[in-house]
Amino acid sequence: MSALADFQNEIYLKGLGDVLPELPTDLTRLEALAERRLSAQAFGYVAGSAGSESTARANRTAFDRWRIVPRMLRDVSERDLSVEILGTPMPAPVLLAPIGVQSIFHPEGELAVARAAAATGLPMVLSTAASFTLEEVAEANGAGPRWYQLYWPKDRDLAVSLLERAKAAGYTALVVTLDTFTLAWRPRDLDQAYLPFLRGIGVANYFADPVFQQAIGGPVTAANRDMALLHWVANFGDPSLTWDDLAFLREHWDGPIVLKGIQHPDDARRAVDAGMDGVVVSNHGGRQVDGAIASLDALPPVADAVGHQTTVLFDSGVRTGADIAKALALGAKAVLVARPYAYGLALGGEAGVRHVLRCLQADLELTMALAGLRTPAEVTLDALVRD
Ligand SMILES: Cc1cc2nc3c(=O)[nH]c(=O)nc-3n(C[C@H](O)[C@H](O)[C@H](O)COP(=O)(O)O)c2cc1C
Repeated sequence: MSALADFQNEIYLKGLGDVLPELPTDLTRLEALAERRLSAQAFGYVAGSAGSESTARANRTAFDRWRIVPRMLRDVSERDLSVEILGTPMPAPVLLAPIGVQSIFHPEGELAVARAAAATGLPMVLSTAASFTLEEVAEANGAGPRWYQLYWPKDRDLAVSLLERAKAAGYTALVVTLDTFTLAWRPRDLDQAYLPFLRGIGVANYFADPVFQQAIGGPVTAANRDMALLHWVANFGDPSLTWDDLAFLREHWDGPIVLKGIQHPDDARRAVDAGMDGVVVSNHGGRQVDGAIASLDALPPVADAVGHQTTVLFDSGVRTGADIAKALALGAKAVLVARPYAYGLALGGEAGVRHVLRCLQADLELTMALAGLRTPAEVTLDALVRD
């Protein structure tokens, strides 16, 4: 038995003393519980997606079209889920996806998530749109592995400053999110006229940045706050970026660079051509383009095109261990989990996030073992059939 699946025994043993898990172990139930806990605005922000939310639904139904085939008598007594991705060792092929503005879910926000990630050894990918500065989060994360996600701002000097700060604070890989140079049409947020950034949440990394401060004539105070927010709005994203601009990132980041938001094999090929080290097959959880391809359906063509040359990661719709196994079988080297840990944060702070991460890892290990699979490398297309 590996330590990850031991969480199952731990739960049953605690039950002998009448102690039950504080949160459900079926992580698909967390959203409904979080709805009761969060304000309507915060819940709409995390659960909502673009337009009619058909992409978010497609992300989930795509998983159901693939079924795992259990296999017998394969000696799965020794199991090891650990992998190394772009120089970062992790106990299971799972990273915490970048999620901005986490203080709207829990006052400790990204700090609680950073501590939970460090406790499990899973890497945290910190968003540029965090509610605490990347330096504060690095301190909370301690010796835990951490990557930095860049929202590439219009101001190139600001981009360089963010990268330099991330490097100095121990973030080892860069994830560049390409699909959100502007926010999509998100009816749940629009109907409540709610955008956390305009209320000063999710801008900590900008307000603390020396280049940002210089641009607005000094540190952000009550007197210039509105101007600072307008400067943020004007700089958040750059719709003019093209593949040629990636050379700029290479110049200013000497670690691995991963492009997030890839859904087409040609874009994945261009990422490789541009010298990038990996891609995240992601549609931002359906939050950007309504009516889009399910991210899981985009995965096999991308993995076929570039999987032998670069690191293919996956997100959008991961809720269970079985989902992770399916994504691995379809060509991902690891997955990013997102909304489930945000719900865990909302419901239980640091302990809630730890619960979600431990559930996912135990569920993955048990699912794999019962399908005759001992390591992530053994999880191939042979493990699945299409419904
Ligand atoms: C509330 C919320 C905030 C997010 N913020 C960011 C962000 O700041 N940067 C980013 O690259 N992706 C962000 N994402 C997208 C996630 O990284 C991930 O791609 C997506 O949530 C995956 O879909 P799933 O949560 O349905 O599995 C956010 C997602 C949510 C739900």
